[in-house]
Amino acid sequence: MKLYRLQSEGGRVRPALGEAPIPEPAPGEVRIRVVAASLNYRDLLILANAADGSLDGRIPLSDAAGIVDALGDGVTCWKEGDRVAASFFRGWISGPFDPAYLPTSFGGRSTDGVLAEFITVPAVALVAVPHHLSLVEAATLPCAAVTAWHGLVERAGLKNGDTVVIQGTGGVALFGLQFAVALGARPLVLSSSDEKLEQARALGAVDLINYLTTPDWHEAVIALTDGKGASHILELGGRETYTRSLKAVAAGGKIVQIGVLTGAGPSPDLERLQTVNADIIGITVGATAHFSAMNAFVAEKNLVPVIDGVFPFEVVPDAYAHLRAGAHFGKLVISVSD
Ligand SMILES: NC(=O)c1ccc[n+]([C@@H]2O[C@H](COP(=O)([O-])OP(=O)(O)OC[C@H]3O[C@@H](n4cnc5c(N)ncnc54)[C@H](OP(=O)(O)O)[C@@H]3O)[C@@H](O)[C@H]2O)c1
Repeated sequence: MKLYRLQSEGGRVRPALGEAPIPEPAPGEVRIRVVAASLNYRDLLILANAADGSLDGRIPLSDAAGIVDALGDGVTCWKEGDRVAASFFRGWISGPFDPAYLPTSFGGRSTDGVLAEFITVPAVALVAVPHHLSLVEAATLPCAAVTAWHGLVERAGLKNGDTVVIQGTGGVALFGLQFAVALGARPLVLSSSDEKLEQARALGAVDLINYLTTPDWHEAVIALTDGKGASHILELGGRETYTRSLKAVAAGGKIVQIGVLTGAGPSPDLERLQTVNADIIGITVGATAHFSAMNAFVAEKNLVPVIDGVFPFEVVPDAYAHLRAGAHFGKLVISVSD
């Protein structure tokens, strides 16, 4: 089969196309013929942290959807031909998070990823793809969508009538926007681009703020919410957004801490947090159980992921370059097989 492995050269890392034997599923595992995979900002961070060659040989990417191709001994919950997606973690199936799950993330420091024509996955770490979605669409779900779902819905209880600040228009952000609209919450979307804000409007966003032309966007959030602030904040920016998020959160509100797009730290002034009895909720993607619950909602509400582009398997480096350029609206997908 064809696959990509990370390869460092002269202080730079790139995904290099290669070949390997088709893997056999171990007992309890399922082999999947991968139809599509998708990229996340995380995949850029992984390249940036692998310049020392420490991840040479690692198969990259965490997100894939495909068709069950073979069953390992003891697997009875799937059959050949089933349409499935793999969870972000091989090991976090349900229940509370345990740090022991971290090394089981696909395409991370310790576990091979999904950018291959065939992968093997524990049967319990798979979810069925909603019927109304193609496998290309389903490949966008495992990291970005589950993160937004776990954070906003499962942990922060987003509901009808809430107000939620969505930072940017990338993968996690647009799933957050779609969930918010489907739940009847009011999304306030931030973007560097007026054109992307108009695209967000088409998805149901009402309040649109350009964070480049309105750098003090927290004041706009306060004004748009009659001085109250937002009940929820999907915090993706980190260093350059946190202080404003703390000012923009409503009394009793929740900051869902997910990303550090502009860097981590320095420590923000946390005094306002206690003054308004708000919470910060930390999120690391989610469990297979979160993925299943989210898929039920995605199917019920007929939600379709927003895809910016689909790249052929042969030009994976172009997909990485497109993600790095930051011009995308939603998700970037790689077509692996028909
Ligand atoms: N904790 C977790 O489990 C978890 C899971 C998934 C992702 N993440 C993190 O979440 C973040 C987003 O990931 P992603 O895959 O969705 O990224 P992505 O698709 O590459 O989206 C990036 C977008 O973020 C927006 N952005 C950049 N700087 C911003 C700022 N200062 N204020 C507001 N928006 C800004 C930009 O939107 P515009 O172009 O509209 O300006 C950009 O297009 C990353 O930091 C990632 O590491 C964490």
